[in-house]
Amino acid sequence: MPSSCPAYRARLIGWGGYLPEPTFTNAQLAEAYQIETDDDWIVQRTGIRQRHLAPAGQVTSDLATAAAQQALAVAGLQANDIQLIIVATTTPDQTFPATAVHVQRKLGNQLAIAFDVQAVCSGFVYALSVADQFIRSGQVRNALVIGAETLSRLLDWQNRTTAILFGDGAGAVVLQAEPLMESTDSGSSNLSQPGIISTHLYANGQYADLLYTDGGASSTQTVGTLQMNGREVFRLAVEKLQEMLQTVLATHNLKGTDIDWLVPHQANIRIIQAMQQKLALPDSQIIVTIDQHANTSAASIPLALNVGLRDGRIKNGDLVLLEAMGGGFTWGAALIRV
Ligand code: UT7
Repeated sequence: MPSSCPAYRARLIGWGGYLPEPTFTNAQLAEAYQIETDDDWIVQRTGIRQRHLAPAGQVTSDLATAAAQQALAVAGLQANDIQLIIVATTTPDQTFPATAVHVQRKLGNQLAIAFDVQAVCSGFVYALSVADQFIRSGQVRNALVIGAETLSRLLDWQNRTTAILFGDGAGAVVLQAEPLMESTDSGSSNLSQPGIISTHLYANGQYADLLYTDGGASSTQTVGTLQMNGREVFRLAVEKLQEMLQTVLATHNLKGTDIDWLVPHQANIRIIQAMQQKLALPDSQIIVTIDQHANTSAASIPLALNVGLRDGRIKNGDLVLLEAMGGGFTWGAALIRV
């Protein structure tokens, strides 16, 4: 085997999710925050019916820790079995230290390295890719990768085009190194061995002013509120994500219908449907949570993955494609054999 070939594959051995209470239906949100909107508009344009919002005092690391504890239980591991903790978040507890070290402390882990990844809604796919590199290279045996957000804390409740879109939550996975087996496939990517087959990351800072917060530690010394040019974000998301799916399929010489499950970032049901069309997959092979969770940014993919695995729809051996796009722009995908 050439030395550049990875020696290990990162296998998905645990998953968990946490959604804070209370939930707000569209009508309850409109009433609570005095937003001039209606349920029909929100459902038709976005697919969202309700969202969970963290109560005052509950911070991102609380959500992340609860999701991580579930993922550790599924994996059958103790906190100190973990050597790497990555939290993907745009809503850290503090500017520093990283939310990941708060999670480490709350879990009672003393051995891991811990840091955050900031790639907004693509954060979980970015974090998964980073953890995958640590595992492939043999530096880490067990990694905890978490997407966690209290995105409601960045919302301008006077702005109805953004206030209705987001929710809070956390999802987590545990990855474990397994020796890479010799491929029995005709191609070189070993599609049959369980674990992360490939990750595909992209960024283009030219689009930074389409989705951002109007604050930051070094500019305003405040966190700011979320600002978005929704129409442009929508148009570019469909274009860039469809291009990326084409690349992922071509890389492995796959057809869209070879994918068992699409677990997309949950930003807008119409964006999800555009990806579904690209892959020619039926509704029954897409995990959709946007109606229940709204857009939870970096948490949306691990939360959706957790739902699909827990309810038994996603089974051992299934080929799962994750994809996301977020502020930056950043976007990315991961192909996983469960
Ligand atoms: O996760 C990160 C990535 N984020 C995304 O992918 C979000 C991408 N963008 C979107 O999902 C959509 O652009 C939105 C859901 C944000 C907006 O949908 P749209 O179809 O692009 O609507 P629009 O912004 O073009 O607005 C259409 C109309 C406007 O009224 P007029 O000017 O046509 O009279 C808005 O004022 O809808 C109005 N509107 C609303 N009406 C009721 C905007 N927000 C609301 C609202 N309730 N909440």
